[in-house]
Amino acid sequence: RLLFNALSPPTQVWTLRKHFQGFPKNTDFELKEEKLPEPQNGEVLLEAVFLSVDPYMRPYSRVQMKEGDVMIGQQVARVIQSKNLKFPVGSHVTTHCGWRTHYLSNGSDLVLVLPEWPKNLPLSLALGAIGMPGLTALYGLEEVCQIKSGETLLVNAAAGAVGIIVGQIAKLKGCKVVGCAGSEDKVAFLKQLGFDEAFNYKTVRSLEEALKKAAPDGYDCYFENVGGHFSSVVMPQMREFGRIAVCGSISMYNDTEPQKGPYVHPEMIFKQLRMEGFLVHRWPHKHPESLKRLLAWQQQGKLQWREHVTEGFVNMPAAFMGMLKGDNIGKAVVKA
Ligand SMILES: NC(=O)c1ccc[n+]([C@@H]2O[C@H](COP(=O)([O-])OP(=O)(O)OC[C@H]3O[C@@H](n4cnc5c(N)ncnc54)[C@H](OP(=O)(O)O)[C@@H]3O)[C@@H](O)[C@H]2O)c1
Ligand SMILES: *[C@@H]1O[C@H](CO)[C@@H](O)[C@H](O)[C@H]1NC(C)=O
Ligand SMILES: *[C@@H]1O[C@H](CO)[C@@H](O)[C@H](O)[C@H]1NC(C)=O
Repeated sequence: RLLFNALSPPTQVWTLRKHFQGFPKNTDFELKEEKLPEPQNGEVLLEAVFLSVDPYMRPYSRVQMKEGDVMIGQQVARVIQSKNLKFPVGSHVTTHCGWRTHYLSNGSDLVLVLPEWPKNLPLSLALGAIGMPGLTALYGLEEVCQIKSGETLLVNAAAGAVGIIVGQIAKLKGCKVVGCAGSEDKVAFLKQLGFDEAFNYKTVRSLEEALKKAAPDGYDCYFENVGGHFSSVVMPQMREFGRIAVCGSISMYNDTEPQKGPYVHPEMIFKQLRMEGFLVHRWPHKHPESLKRLLAWQQQGKLQWREHVTEGFVNMPAAFMGMLKGDNIGKAVVKA
């Protein structure tokens, strides 16, 4: 493959220049150019349309990447050259090809966007409400919490990509929903979405009191996105036989020294709690049906979505760091 693709525009990629120490910095990333060859039989050339920035990139960078690697991540891409009948020019796919503007694939790692995807619905939702974060919300509630009508649910990072879907699905299921987020705008948005109680965890005088006030009888289910100190305050407020879906622990992702307890064991025993970590990838066989369900809810007006869109591939690191800091309401995406 010596011949470069004359028709292909230059490919830009963002690499991990230096492993993150504490919070990521601009100098940890490097923008590079690549040239791609022409597609051979079975291959397609893709162009990024929307790229996702997600919290997992922070902890996974340490274990899955070495310095110089292209940043990991999912995107929605358009087929611009094709020698694969399954993926004609103009079709859209999702792929985990990382932070790159163009990508050559043999098709094995591509997923076509749902054929019933409405023309007027932004394709970026395939990275959010009707994509990985939406599925995470659904599985955390149904498979892990096994939430039932009438129960009380707590979700933190509630105004984020996963959180807004968690709260809305729990409402659809007839639950009382309490959400916490880091700004007044986020709290107002949660109330607009129908959350029963919402508060700003950064400005309440006491997190413990705010949680008690929001649900005096305690919590049956806790959709955990934050971890650390927050979690220690929630544990004593769980009800007997409560379930905790450990989805994320974003408050711990840039720690270099592990945080110290309080430890959960007494609460777990005496309240007979169930605490279970999960990854959305555990239920791949359920994805097609689940995505259709999320799309149907969206089309019926039962599931609102919101996005924080950053323009330009060149701004990927800024979008990523902004999301970690809490700049986003809803899903953080980059428009290429
Ligand atoms: N298990 C899985 O398969 C899976 C899949 C997807 C996501 N996740 C996890 O789910 C969580 C949410 O992910 P997402 O994609 O929906 O991200 P997101 O909530 O859209 O964005 C991250 C949010 O986290 C909040 N945050 C940042 N630092 C915090 C801290 N120290 N304490 C409390 N909140 C903090 C910020 O909002 P505030 O303004 O509210 O602070 C920020 O907007 C993450 O922990 C992620 O790792 C897990
Ligand atoms: C880690 O990142 C969070 C935001 O995700 C921030 O609140 C915290 O101060 C950071 N800690 C360090 C040690 O950089
Ligand atoms: C397609 O490419 C992947 C690497 O991206 C490789 O693992 C796989 O074997 C290839 N499949 C075919 C049919 O060539």
